[in-house]
Amino acid sequence: MRMTTSSSVGAGLVVLVATVCLLLPAATRAQLQVGFYNTSCPNAEALVRQAVAAAFANNSGIAAGLIRLHFHDCFVRGCDASVLLSVNPGGGKTEREAPPNNPSLRGFEVVDAAKAAIERSCPRTVSCADILAFAARDSVNLTGNVFYQVPAGRRDGNVSKEGDALKNLPGPNNTATGLIDGFAAKNLTAEEMVVLSGSHTIGRSHCDSFLFKNRERLANGTISPAYQALLEALCPPTTNQFTPNTTEIDLSTPTVLDNNYYKLLPLNLGLHFSDDQLIRNATTAPNVAAFAANETLWKEKFISAMIKMGRIEVNTGAQGEVRLNCSIVNAPSSSTGIEMLLPGTSDDRADEVATS
Ligand code: HEM
Ligand SMILES: *[C@@H]1O[C@H](CO)[C@@H](O)[C@H](O)[C@H]1NC(C)=O
Ligand SMILES: *[C@@H]1O[C@H](CO)[C@@H](O)[C@H](O)[C@H]1NC(C)=O
Ligand SMILES: *[C@@H]1O[C@H](CO)[C@@H](O)[C@H](O)[C@H]1NC(C)=O
Ligand SMILES: *[C@@H]1O[C@H](CO)[C@@H](O)[C@H](O)[C@H]1NC(C)=O
Ligand SMILES: *[C@@H]1O[C@H](CO)[C@@H](O)[C@H](O)[C@H]1NC(C)=O
Ligand SMILES: *[C@@H]1O[C@H](CO)[C@@H](O)[C@H](O)[C@H]1NC(C)=O
Ligand SMILES: *[C@@H]1O[C@H](CO)[C@@H](O)[C@H](O)[C@H]1NC(C)=O
Ligand SMILES: *[C@@H]1O[C@H](CO)[C@@H](O)[C@H](O)[C@H]1NC(C)=O
Ligand SMILES: *[C@@H]1O[C@H](CO)[C@@H](O)[C@H](O)[C@H]1NC(C)=O
Ligand SMILES: *[C@@H]1O[C@H](CO)[C@@H](O)[C@H](O)[C@H]1NC(C)=O
Ligand SMILES: *[C@@H]1O[C@H](CO)[C@@H](O)[C@H](O)[C@H]1NC(C)=O
Repeated sequence: MRMTTSSSVGAGLVVLVATVCLLLPAATRAQLQVGFYNTSCPNAEALVRQAVAAAFANNSGIAAGLIRLHFHDCFVRGCDASVLLSVNPGGGKTEREAPPNNPSLRGFEVVDAAKAAIERSCPRTVSCADILAFAARDSVNLTGNVFYQVPAGRRDGNVSKEGDALKNLPGPNNTATGLIDGFAAKNLTAEEMVVLSGSHTIGRSHCDSFLFKNRERLANGTISPAYQALLEALCPPTTNQFTPNTTEIDLSTPTVLDNNYYKLLPLNLGLHFSDDQLIRNATTAPNVAAFAANETLWKEKFISAMIKMGRIEVNTGAQGEVRLNCSIVNAPSSSTGIEMLLPGTSDDRADEVATS
């Protein structure tokens, strides 16, 4: 190296190189970690679990709502809690207002209750995106009698656009090919798409999501006529996006996260056209048969796929912010960027990669 430059320029170069070396790993290698809040907010996960358990005791359907909230968060701008924003600082309609989310998404008040409890205990530390991931896990625990560790350390985004939701969320009229492509765009395989669709073993659906498309299925012989008659009786003829009438997606065991969803499909009892598509396509039909035959197999794959979904395009390290109120981005003055210097989010911790 040439040593003719002044020592102050040399020192400046060293600082610059050191800075680049410190920043690059933070930007490119920061990873989610199990136990991310071990020291910065040790009761974070317990507080989320308590909020979810309380809401579930009052209304067991909330578990389905929270699992779907996490999915709809992760598929749109990554798992950054953008789905929770009620205002887009850049103006225009939010994800929440998009028809796939409005009025069907539920569980917002549970996230708010968890966040309020956590802010009282450890202010400005736990992101709304992580709360959503924990709440989905706890919902799986309550309905499916299984548990998994959630890698955490997500940071919240500051943008929420209706158009992004419309572009990225799969819809009930999608063909198998459309579903496979939509999940591939998120680096999820066709099998993982079938695995995660098993979430439809719990929860409900609004008439507008199935009524009209199922009339075409009736003509095609791909829905049980008795089932469609039941649905026609349940739904007003004037059904539209805001019609409140709903039905359980899995009529057999609507509050249990089991493999009955896969058993209903070959009986022409899949509720949505998109559900039915899984048995009409040669790529996905064998997955449906395998999960119908072996619930343990499905649950193992479900847990892995949920963890993988929770990693989609996450903000980590100094990216994004820890929102103080999950419905709105932080005011410019309340920046939480300082947290990259605090335990729980520093670079060396972020480099201790959890393997699960
Ligand atoms: C494969 C593509 C998917 C499509 C087309 C789809 C579509 C739908 C539709 C139309 C509803 C009913 C909404 C309503 O009208 O109330 C619904 C509900 C639901 N979805 Fe999906 N979904 C898909 C994948 C997933 C995934 C990957 C998950 C979770 C990991 C999921 C979890 C749920 C849950 C839990 C409900 C019930 C929500 C509640 O009861 O509040 N879905 N889905
Ligand atoms: C948090 O603690 C758990 C249990 O001791 C451990 O498995 C995990 O690796 C810890 N995570 C971090 C980031 O310290
Ligand atoms: C209980 O659930 C009902 C809906 O089933 C909801 O309207 C009500 O706000 C919930 N109450 C509490 C305290 O969560
Ligand atoms: C969102 O945050 C990024 C940086 O994190 C910033 O560049 C951008 O201006 C912010 N956008 C809005 C709408 O606040
Ligand atoms: C549900 O989660 C709790 C911890 O939150 C755990 O102790 C329990 O074992 C889980 N249930 C099952 C069946 O794994
Ligand atoms: C099944 O999906 C695959 C992948 O999108 C596609 O190539 C194939 O044509 C589909 N088959 C049928 C029968 O729809
Ligand atoms: C999918 O993987 C590619 C290659 O690793 C990456 O560039 C892309 O950002 C990933 N997309 C998502 C949605 O995670
Ligand atoms: C699905 O298809 C039905 C029947 O063609 C149509 O009435 C409905 O608007 C479509 N729904 C969506 C979300 O595209
Ligand atoms: C009905 O069958 C035709 C021909 O196989 C197919 O193109 C169409 O997508 C099917 N529609 C529904 C709603 O199943
Ligand atoms: C649909 O929901 C409305 C409002 O709850 C209710 O009055 C009606 O009886 C329900 N069923 C039908 C078929 O309209
Ligand atoms: C079901 O799947 C589990 C988990 O992969 C496996 O250990 C078990 O042998 C399978 N059971 C049968 C009957 O194939
Ligand atoms: C969060 O922001 C929303 C929207 O401005 C507001 O209605 C709500 O009261 C706030 N919650 C808390 C706990 O401050």
